[in-house]
Amino acid sequence: MTALAAEIRERIRRDGPISVATYMELCLSHPTLGYYRRGERIGAAGDFITAPETSQMFGELIGLWCAAVWRAMGAPARVRLVELGPGRGTLMADALRAARTVPAFLKALDLHLVETSESLRAEQRTRLAEARPAWHERLETVPPGPLLVVANEFFDALPIRQFERIDDDWRERVVALAPSSEAFRFAAAPAPCAEAGRLGHAPTGAIVERAPAREALAAALAARVAAEGGAALIVDYGHARPGTGDTLQALRRHRRHGVLDDPGDADLTAHVDFSALAAAARRAGAGVFGPVAQGAFLKALGIEERAAALRRNASASQAQAIDAALRRLTGAHGMGALFKALAITHPALDALPGFEAEPERAAQ
Ligand SMILES: C[S@@+](CC[C@H](N)C(=O)[O-])C[C@H]1O[C@@H](n2cnc3c(N)ncnc32)[C@H](O)[C@@H]1O
Repeated sequence: MTALAAEIRERIRRDGPISVATYMELCLSHPTLGYYRRGERIGAAGDFITAPETSQMFGELIGLWCAAVWRAMGAPARVRLVELGPGRGTLMADALRAARTVPAFLKALDLHLVETSESLRAEQRTRLAEARPAWHERLETVPPGPLLVVANEFFDALPIRQFERIDDDWRERVVALAPSSEAFRFAAAPAPCAEAGRLGHAPTGAIVERAPAREALAAALAARVAAEGGAALIVDYGHARPGTGDTLQALRRHRRHGVLDDPGDADLTAHVDFSALAAAARRAGAGVFGPVAQGAFLKALGIEERAAALRRNASASQAQAIDAALRRLTGAHGMGALFKALAITHPALDALPGFEAEPERAAQ
């Protein structure tokens, strides 16, 4: 049993079942035992591989995207470049290297990293030393001014609530203890939930997910870019339209793991509902582009041309690796369709690189 499992069990014994959101938050962000408090989670030797860890092309194209949006903003003399959840710092290192082709942008930016994990901060410190980043626990402490925000696989780590349809009621899904074994199990809260009126109708057994923490962050980003100028780029896996279904999943050593097994020692994520983020951003006064499928987004930014350029100086095995990364990042069987890009912008930005594709076609 993990130390965090023992702590959660004790809490449930004492106070009763906890919501899925509380369970997810404890598993990922418990101050000492949470998943991200320990390092070595991301990459081949860890539990999962993200897009920037797959290929340098991903971060490079995002760096050039930021430079292009900065120009579209009127090339302000100062701009905050903010990354939410920078992981090992790979995306930003590749982005800043690519941005060297736009020296005025590099000169204008100061780098802010929103990261709660001390061990990942240490990796970021090593990789990004030259850019002299400032670290933050939360977006709110990033100083005011025009900003460009990048968040890759960040929203999926913010907690979700789940609700289960039982006859004519919606009940919040909770984590409880089995009566005999005291193993963790999912259960429905005994009383109907206050949100029931807003969850619509569905057959008994259906599960819907809501993510107030994610919507609040989308609204906060929107309020900032609308007031101060700039844009936020969110790339994550999820769906373009709302739906029903349980998308909570755990990953450990690159394999699916039981969501309730080994809390704090397996990554826990849930699909992002892009329509909810877009609606929250619009309500807060921002413009929204997308979602478009990651494959379409990266192709529109020129990933195929970048792969061809890298291939020209590559050995045969390197060329194979470049092709494999391209397929993984853009292919429908890799990350190309399930992952999507959404941009939240100052309303005056009327065109954005990567979002020219028809959303209907791109974000199936
Ligand atoms: C799935 S990793 C993605 C890392 C990186 N963006 C990448 O693509 O490789 C999630 C990142 O968000 C950070 N993180 C998770 N929850 C956070 C929170 N509530 N506040 C700040 N950072 C958080 C983690 O420590 C980690 O750096």
